[in-house]
Amino acid sequence: MKRIVVLVSGGGTNLQALIDAQNRGEITRGRITCVISSNPNAYALERAAKNGIETEVIRRRDFADFDEYDSALTALLKAKNADLVVLAGFMTILGSQVINAFENRIINIHPALIPSFCGEGYYGLRVHEEALKKGVKVTGATAHFVNEICDGGPIILQKAVEVLDGDTPEVLQKRVMEQAEWKILPKAVALFCEDKIKVTDNKTVILK
Ligand code: GRF
Repeated sequence: MKRIVVLVSGGGTNLQALIDAQNRGEITRGRITCVISSNPNAYALERAAKNGIETEVIRRRDFADFDEYDSALTALLKAKNADLVVLAGFMTILGSQVINAFENRIINIHPALIPSFCGEGYYGLRVHEEALKKGVKVTGATAHFVNEICDGGPIILQKAVEVLDGDTPEVLQKRVMEQAEWKILPKAVALFCEDKIKVTDNKTVILK
């Protein structure tokens, strides 16, 4: 059983999708063992507690500088014996210590089809605002490994979602979550736990 540690900052609907998938028996080779929040008031922490999952809080502002924070988060993840780290709406940038310690073992969910609408500053509603501004007819979500380049790590799964006339950023965000994020994030986690994701040259192959 792989130990899955989920990092959150907010509402935690992606965490909920992972918990639901686990409860349905869809994550056969892994188990969510800990939820770590950058925000002590995140509703995601309640979702974890309701499901009997251990929680921790680590706040960037409790550390003198970014390096110290990076070391502390790395040490915490190691202390939890994380085999896989999942970023499910985690709003703090990861440092190079965490990224190097967990190479190809950190999965993020991005609410667009990478390489569209991604990179520095593309998070939350902004992603959907930009998609609407451009007038794309299709957007979606991407589950990918995290490397030093923002939203630049190997892509694991993507799912397309239609953009409809009259969409607002909020309406589009909800559709992307329901139709794509909540489906592909648990699937990517399940595949990782089954050792079915092979990474070569910053690309992945999903083994049968
Ligand atoms: C999602 O849109 C996800 O794509 C992004 O942050 C949001 C998190 O929402 N990375 P939630 O906390 O999982 O509800």
